[in-house]
Amino acid sequence: MPVRDFPDEFLFGAATSSHQVEGGNDNCDWWDWELAKGSRDLSGSACEHYQRYPEDIAMARDLGLNSYRFSLEWSRIEPEPGRFDERELAHYRDMALRCREFGVEPIVSLHHFTLPRWLSANGGVLSPGSTERFAAYCAVAADALEGAARYVLTINEPMILVLMGYVDGVWPPGKRSPTAALAAARRLVSWHLAAYGRIRARHPDMLLGVAKHWIDFQPLDGHRALHRGGSRLQSYLLNRWYLGAVRQAQDFIGLNYYSTRYVTGPLRGVPLASEDEPRTEMGWSISPQGLYRALLALRAYDRPIMITENGIAAAQDDQRLAYIVDHLAAVSKALHQGVPVIGYQYWSLLDNFEWAEGYRPQFGIIGVDRATQHRTVRPSGRRYGEIARSGRLPKGT
Ligand code: FCB
Repeated sequence: MPVRDFPDEFLFGAATSSHQVEGGNDNCDWWDWELAKGSRDLSGSACEHYQRYPEDIAMARDLGLNSYRFSLEWSRIEPEPGRFDERELAHYRDMALRCREFGVEPIVSLHHFTLPRWLSANGGVLSPGSTERFAAYCAVAADALEGAARYVLTINEPMILVLMGYVDGVWPPGKRSPTAALAAARRLVSWHLAAYGRIRARHPDMLLGVAKHWIDFQPLDGHRALHRGGSRLQSYLLNRWYLGAVRQAQDFIGLNYYSTRYVTGPLRGVPLASEDEPRTEMGWSISPQGLYRALLALRAYDRPIMITENGIAAAQDDQRLAYIVDHLAAVSKALHQGVPVIGYQYWSLLDNFEWAEGYRPQFGIIGVDRATQHRTVRPSGRRYGEIARSGRLPKGT
């Protein structure tokens, strides 16, 4: 029997988020942002995943995946402050149960960038009572998931939300203010801590974490102290600070990893080391060794690690397959060195609404025809499924 590259129980899956795939999600800050031309496209009907989830989860299962990461939409569940919609709670519970029925482990995020309009209209993350609001919503959501979902992520990429929404100002709420950014980062720490405490007390069996983005910051020129110091500083600010602040309140670490970034100063950097470095359709570097480095660095936090996102926007599907295989090889290498990686969720199951970039980037292992909603499994999806079923990478990797 050939040796497996991954353990039997390893969770191979794919990820989505509510606003990016559901369609008709018009009671949140992102919809307002789109109407104000903050994205190239309107999310509109997206992938109609709100209706089509049984078919989509079945497709993931048929590929050979044994897990699926999706998110709950807070603005549907709590359309007005303090009013929780039982039908929406039942909808998301059904998604998790559907996964179970198919032998697919659900991994559920409670917050993935979008805020209910009533909250964004009142100062959003920075509104005075937002921590209590978030924790109350998380408690209700976790109750609905009782017995259906074990892995629960409170927040997706808190520091990316801060960066895009409060530093670059290209996502809601469109601010460019270091003071507000610092306050938002702190607030998102208290959101997680409050939610963790609340859920932990009610559902001791749930495994709780954050989907934490990690950028592999490297000095552009390793001989220059400014580049080296800058990369340490940026890694601290974007990667490590938040993880340290929530350290005692995580049962596992969720890792979203995409690329290496080359640092040229304290707050400066470039996405590519040179003009001819291979890149994705987003212009991001392709750097499996960055994932390996991230996994080794995360070992210090002494928790199991689930890769909750990793993926590529690619116009050519063979580029996607190579990306998946090379990144999984990096995971396997880390596993063999004792890093406790428990799963890998490819971003994304479906081509979907990529925030300010709209529908152009294609991340999916399943393509979606925007006009007909027809789904087409890409060859990369089939091959990824074969890796998932066998637990083995293609020979020669
Ligand atoms: C991550 C987000 C996810 C998706 C990918 C490409 O930062 O969590 O929603 O947009 O990037």
